[in-house]
Amino acid sequence: MSSDSKRSRARELAATHLARGDALGRFEPVYAQAAGVAANVPWADLRPNPNLVEWLDAKAIRGDGRTALVVGCGLGDDAELLADRGFRVTAFDVSPTAVAWCGRRFPRSAVRYAVGDLLSPPAIWRQAFDFVFEAYTLQVLPRALRDQAISHMVDTVRPGGTLLLICRGRRPEDAEGQMPWPLLRVELSALERSGIVLEEFEEFWDRHEEPPVWRFRACYSRPPA
Ligand SMILES: C[S@@+](CC[C@H](N)C(=O)[O-])C[C@H]1O[C@@H](n2cnc3c(N)ncnc32)[C@H](O)[C@@H]1O
Repeated sequence: MSSDSKRSRARELAATHLARGDALGRFEPVYAQAAGVAANVPWADLRPNPNLVEWLDAKAIRGDGRTALVVGCGLGDDAELLADRGFRVTAFDVSPTAVAWCGRRFPRSAVRYAVGDLLSPPAIWRQAFDFVFEAYTLQVLPRALRDQAISHMVDTVRPGGTLLLICRGRRPEDAEGQMPWPLLRVELSALERSGIVLEEFEEFWDRHEEPPVWRFRACYSRPPA
């Protein structure tokens, strides 16, 4: 299947589920219908996010046993990267098939993979993580759910902890576009309203993609208690 037809299929699934008022039910069929073939999952490239790798490398970040949470972990490459860099990682996805797939790909992994919904995370995750990483999940959620998702995500950051977010971005004059919907920078202000502080904001052409994609990469911290 070409990447255009995979993306079209994902958009069809999104439209069908969203028309029924079901924002999340479309992810599981994408993974289930892929039948173990990662090339059938539109966003799966079986490598850590290069924009995460570059960020970690530029800052020489090591986990040193600190805790990390990976939101919407997909097939697990970012979670494995963070574990390799010394974090104690929990990674979750709303799709049980994706989570089981991570288990098969990384049978000896130190990562704790879990099925979970960013819109209703377990209470035990509240302010529990030193480093929270989110890439490309907010942009597949309808706009009406993003503030709720952001608030829950921010809530998982421990005092003194860091949150790194990477997403498609757009300028106010740009059209909303198709799913995955690029975010406006103003939408990210919901993170600061939820209690964390913007440390660093970058916007750039991501040339790891063909054609290149306009990205936001933003880093936040929760002030120490
Ligand atoms: C576009 S994919 C990105 C996956 C991965 N982060 C990556 O960069 O390859 C979005 C992922 O978020 C998951 N997801 C969507 N809504 C979610 C939610 N409410 N809670 C947890 N995971 C969710 C989907 O199942 C999917 O794996």
